[in-house]
Amino acid sequence: MTEQVINRLKDPENITETEQKHVPVIESDDVMTAEGKFKVTVTLGEVPHVMQDDHYIEWIELHLGNIKIGRVELSPSDEKAEAIFTVEPTEEIVGIRAYEICHIRGVNVCGDCGTKAVIMKLKALASCNVHGLWESSKQVEIMSKKVGEGKECRWHA
Ligand SMILES: [Fe+2]
Repeated sequence: MTEQVINRLKDPENITETEQKHVPVIESDDVMTAEGKFKVTVTLGEVPHVMQDDHYIEWIELHLGNIKIGRVELSPSDEKAEAIFTVEPTEEIVGIRAYEICHIRGVNVCGDCGTKAVIMKLKALASCNVHGLWESSKQVEIMSKKVGEGKECRWHA
């Protein structure tokens, strides 16, 4: 089975017309707090993609790290290629991510020592019935609501 190619922006200095219409634009807060609710809007693209019977965006998906937030199915009758999602980061996500970063990369963030924030990626994936799959991502900072009082992490400065 051949895997479907996922298209991404190749050169930010030289954006093609096809990329302008297909690279998902992710609008969200740059910082999110655990246990909060955050609206994320994904639009295709910077130049609006058409929504016609023979050429339209079939669906848009949003992921936070490797967690799927959702998929919105679209049809040619939709006015524009846009999907609105609600991201609800949990303390558990922050903890797991902090643990991974600390133990794999040795970054000064750790679930054991009172994590304050982790950097994660919001990833949007969308499908055009003519031009295939398109992906883009945006970094967000997820803040823990907990005040750190755990044991000292060995990566801590
Ligand atoms: Fe297209």
